[in-house]
Amino acid sequence: MTSEPAQRPSSGQSPSPRGSEEELQATIDQIAAIVTESDYVVGMTGAGMSVESGIPPFRGADGLWTKYGTPRMDGYSDFKKDPTGWWNRRTNEKIDAHIVELRDALTNAEPHKGHYALAELEKQGSLQSLVTQNIDALDEKAGLQNLIEIHGNRTKLRCIECGDRVSLGDFVPLFAPDPCNQCGGVVKFDTVMFGEPIPDDVMAASRAEIDKADCVLAIGTSATVRPASGLLWIAEASGATIIEINPTETKLTPICEVSLRSTAGEALPLLLQTLAI
Ligand code: APR
Repeated sequence: MTSEPAQRPSSGQSPSPRGSEEELQATIDQIAAIVTESDYVVGMTGAGMSVESGIPPFRGADGLWTKYGTPRMDGYSDFKKDPTGWWNRRTNEKIDAHIVELRDALTNAEPHKGHYALAELEKQGSLQSLVTQNIDALDEKAGLQNLIEIHGNRTKLRCIECGDRVSLGDFVPLFAPDPCNQCGGVVKFDTVMFGEPIPDDVMAASRAEIDKADCVLAIGTSATVRPASGLLWIAEASGATIIEINPTETKLTPICEVSLRSTAGEALPLLLQTLAI
């Protein structure tokens, strides 16, 4: 996974003006009309989707990378050089402050009403699938069925040879986990590291969903990290309607049919309510 090249320190962009209740509902109505007319709606969520569950985003005013700086891009090559050493260092050495802050937030996080609204939208057939960049497993917990976790899932381990995934359960490995019981390969957290290619299975599944989409709801993503973010432009190039739900303008905004300056926790329940009428 790579960020956009030459990442300037995040500008700490502040949210755009939200508008009145009437303006909010008018935009929700616009989105609802597009969703109703669409045959295949795919959600693409980013860290902003989980902010209202207490998990900090990475970029923007309250972002982890804004606070601690963007991490090095060689995490995965480090791991591959010496997996056992990586696991042991992880146990014995001081863990980066941003990892500690993110891990503490992840441990206590629960889905919020926006996650549950997405699951309901899927249940009622207004959303066909969700590709999330988040590793927090909150979408699964909220009941999303057709879910692709393109950056992995923090509650799983994955073999880097055959891709087999197993649940971590409550046990966090304090030493290198056993080799893959399918192929004997090296095992790591399922979460995709910087510099790690997106596993073929989730990349192919995500692309297949995007190729079917005639509408993409981009929710809480700065749309800056390829290849996940690239899928949004691929969708647009294929004629899909792109809708953005984000308090802040992003690089995606210029290609969006509708940009709703609201939060996931506010907008998605309103969208569900509007579509249920
Ligand atoms: N509701 C909706 N959007 C929000 C909210 C909210 N409550 N709060 C913040 N946002 C928006 C921000 O304005 C920002 O545009 O969410 C976006 C979060 O952007 P990033 O922090 O860059 O997160 P994301 O786009 O998911 O980053 C992609 O980068 O570091 C990697 O692996 C990490 O998966 C992540 C990837």
